[in-house]
Amino acid sequence: MRMSASALPFRRMLGIDERLEHTAARPVIIPQVIVVDHGKVFVSESFKASCAFLGISFQPARKATGTDKPHIERTLGSVATMFAQYVSATAGLSPGAAVLEVGCGTGQLTERLASSGFRLTAIDIGASMIAAARQRLAGAEVSFQVTSFEDLAAVDASFDLVISSAAFHWIDPEVAFSKSARLLRPGGWLALLGTEEHYDDPLGEALDVLWVTHGDTGGAWERRPSDPEAIAATGLFGTPACLTDRQQAILPAGDVIALETTRATFLSWPHDTQRHFTEELRRLLKPQPAVDLTRHTSVTMAQVLRVRR
Ligand SMILES: C[S@@+](CC[C@H](N)C(=O)[O-])C[C@H]1O[C@@H](n2cnc3c(N)ncnc32)[C@H](O)[C@@H]1O
Repeated sequence: MRMSASALPFRRMLGIDERLEHTAARPVIIPQVIVVDHGKVFVSESFKASCAFLGISFQPARKATGTDKPHIERTLGSVATMFAQYVSATAGLSPGAAVLEVGCGTGQLTERLASSGFRLTAIDIGASMIAAARQRLAGAEVSFQVTSFEDLAAVDASFDLVISSAAFHWIDPEVAFSKSARLLRPGGWLALLGTEEHYDDPLGEALDVLWVTHGDTGGAWERRPSDPEAIAATGLFGTPACLTDRQQAILPAGDVIALETTRATFLSWPHDTQRHFTEELRRLLKPQPAVDLTRHTSVTMAQVLRVRR
């Protein structure tokens, strides 16, 4: 994008704080056209008003017209691509940079990173995940490994970027940040991508209570620090920068049950606890056919300061 298309006063911001230099390097995305399907999430009045305000042409897909669907798929693909580009721009990476992706899963983000020409190592603890990622990226130059991050054997200071999407919270917190700092070359970056769903109250509050009363961790999961807080607490990285996008959605009650009962915490419970939780959730949802939810997608980036061995 041309910087002239940006509304941000970059020059004045740089004068105030030179750390904002990276802001000026970030891609500013202003689409010309957005094609949307007919899910409620996309057709809210505020979304349409925002499009009008930003001069974006808002075009609903024609109903029952399969050929319109690829436009939407491509748009979602572009979001992942721009995410990867945002991270590379902030970290100042060029083709050939050494990148480690932790918990690559089936390779959605890996695909985007690979197209940037990085020397990419992608690891996952699940052999089936790596098999799927290998298939997705057939022919690409990616070094895949089936290993946990905790057990990964890698040379200290060998990566320019350690990146992880929706996986870093599964790693032993004693290892996650210290090992990332050790594997990064001086000045290298850690980038954590994550998503979270928050239901509007009163359901949100009632569901929190349900998780706490059914689990045996006393709600530790809910009280876990955010990515920026966790990174800042290590003292190994510079001040983390966090970018968050919020999307409103309306979820049918059945989908809420489907979503909540696929969470790892739920799956780890004994059958009786799972049944009781599901019954209680069904009872909470009974008065309403659908619920409001906000989906938070965030990217947190921090530059390594020093290495503690
Ligand atoms: C929610 S998935 C995210 C997958 C992918 N990054 C994405 O965004 O689509 C989490 C992934 O982390 C992997 N994982 C969990 N614990 C791990 C560990 N300790 N080391 C490496 N990978 C791990 C899981 O096998 C799973 O593929």
